[in-house]
Amino acid sequence: MKITVIGGGHVGATCAQLIANAELAKDVYLVDIIDGIPQGKALDMYESMPVNESDTRIYGVNSYEETKDSDIVVITAGLARKPGMSRDDLVIKNANIVKSCAESAIKYSPEAYYIIVSNPLDVMTYLALKVTGLPKHKVFGMAGILDTARYRSFISMELGVSMQDIQGLILGGHGDTMVPLPRFTTVAGIPVNDLIPKERMDAICARAAGGGGEIVKYLKTGSAYYAPASAVVQMIESIVRDQKRILPCSVLLEGEYGYDDVLVGVPVVLGKGGVEKVIELKLNDDEKAALNTSVDHVRTTIADAMEMIKNQ
Ligand code: 2OP
Repeated sequence: MKITVIGGGHVGATCAQLIANAELAKDVYLVDIIDGIPQGKALDMYESMPVNESDTRIYGVNSYEETKDSDIVVITAGLARKPGMSRDDLVIKNANIVKSCAESAIKYSPEAYYIIVSNPLDVMTYLALKVTGLPKHKVFGMAGILDTARYRSFISMELGVSMQDIQGLILGGHGDTMVPLPRFTTVAGIPVNDLIPKERMDAICARAAGGGGEIVKYLKTGSAYYAPASAVVQMIESIVRDQKRILPCSVLLEGEYGYDDVLVGVPVVLGKGGVEKVIELKLNDDEKAALNTSVDHVRTTIADAMEMIKNQ
């Protein structure tokens, strides 16, 4: 197994480290345009492997030749938000960055699975899908696991119980319009709505939807990376070990949930075939309306981004 991580910033480097620590690949390539950064970070990580008891080898590179025949490519390159910015504010700059990374990577790794992490997530994943020309089961975005992890953490804080026992789901775009689903959330099998009053659940859902912004506000110069990287690695593990986990990921919808040619977070089965299945939930009217709003928002941003790329 050979895994390439594009973007040597906090998210990319943390992904590379977690992949290596879990020995999910024999070789990990960290790619960045800044000379020295991927080399230095990769060598530092390489040197931590004897202590971590992993035989994964990590290399830092500035070009794509060395990434040839990767099995999985993770694209994290792009700018991160600063306080006060929405993920959509990054669209122009990151569209060009993601387009160029995807174009370069696909030349050398035409058979790989592509996991997109750059923001605005759903738009960048749509772009990578078009640029690579790969089918939808091979190009998908990481967001739902992160959003749901934040939501699960907040429920655990509220109840003072183990995070392991909290199962939940957030659908839709990775932005302010995401759709947390308390009706599909349980704590050791108990419906969360039986344990937490509605006003508190509303506050938890709102905090989860603003969870990325909460971290940006603290960090001031960038956005979250520990939880995003952990989420990416959970996706990689499910593919590499063919676990067939059901995880919310951003995938192209072609009729599922009644939507077409748009890409948002939905639960999927992830295994050695990539996105092996999209799972459709029976949503009630309120949930469906919230998902509609989210899909409309993502659709508009995708259209704007594609138009902008065409015209430049
Ligand atoms: C987040 O939600 C960076 O979008 C990412 O933290």
